[in-house]
Amino acid sequence: DWSMDDFIDEQIAKIRETVGDRRVLLGLSGGVDSSVVGVLLHKAIGNQLTSIFVDHGLLRKNEADEVMDALGGKFGLNIIKVDAQERFLNKLAGVTDPEQKRKIIGNEFIRVFDEEAVKLDGIDFLAQGTLYTDVIESGTDTAQTIKSHHNVGGLPEDIQFQLIEPLNKLFKDEVRLLGEKLGMPHDLVWRQPFPGPGLGIRVLGEVTEDKLEIVRESDAILRDEIAKQGLDNEVWQYFTVLPGVRSVGVMGDGRTYDHTIAIRAITSVDGMTADFAKLPWDVLEEISRRIVNETDHVNRVVYDITAKPPATVEWE
Ligand code: XMP
Repeated sequence: DWSMDDFIDEQIAKIRETVGDRRVLLGLSGGVDSSVVGVLLHKAIGNQLTSIFVDHGLLRKNEADEVMDALGGKFGLNIIKVDAQERFLNKLAGVTDPEQKRKIIGNEFIRVFDEEAVKLDGIDFLAQGTLYTDVIESGTDTAQTIKSHHNVGGLPEDIQFQLIEPLNKLFKDEVRLLGEKLGMPHDLVWRQPFPGPGLGIRVLGEVTEDKLEIVRESDAILRDEIAKQGLDNEVWQYFTVLPGVRSVGVMGDGRTYDHTIAIRAITSVDGMTADFAKLPWDVLEEISRRIVNETDHVNRVVYDITAKPPATVEWE
């Protein structure tokens, strides 16, 4: 009879035995998996764990603070927060191709992480939130991860980490259960999926701070309303997109020429296929009203009613 309590005890014993009095490094992304790994490891080895949290400036509104407050504050993890917003914006300047944006964000992320990692002495282990599904999907994934991790960035070739992957036998729903058992906040454990490139692929085309601000503000309003209506359990993923389209509007006596925000809200099981969420009209109406009123430079809101396939969940 498999129970999560037994799993926690087993893992903690195993981690302690493996690590001994040595040190472990963890990259926190703000997502569920790395957060659960962080809390589990901290429970096992306390301050022998050092975490690095790279704020690439492409996170949602208040997200970086929430992660720091929850994991650093409440759980007492030792987190090095790297404010790398400008670095990412500089790298992304003038870049419009979606795949190139993804690549740049991914590479820069590893580079920043490695630069911080080399400053730390005497780290022997690298912890990762690899899930069972990641292991299956990529075959012998571990070697691949190490390779892709170490080919880019500032780590000297001869630094070799041993990997610790305490979630690699678990499915996502088990990781969430584990998080709850560890006393993690509900909001963090049940967080909707969020792509690594973050808002960088929700500002279509070139990413600028002004455009990020529009996505961040409108997205916060959408999330607020979905939560208020108690719809966050029914809708699998929901966010706003800035297509970069301007259109004519009217405000008071004046004509406006401003941005359109698109709302993407889907129901899905695993993100592989999806339907658009049939949100009630009055909820959409309120979201639209608030986004236009409270977000500067937005005068129109549209709703994405496409399934996946043929569309993807993200617009880039
Ligand atoms: P798509 O857009 O491919 O998205 O239909 C399916 C699910 O995957 C997420 N997604 C990503 N996650 N890095 C990630 O970590 C990415 O580059 C990425 N692209 C899409 C997306 O949010 C959705 O949940």
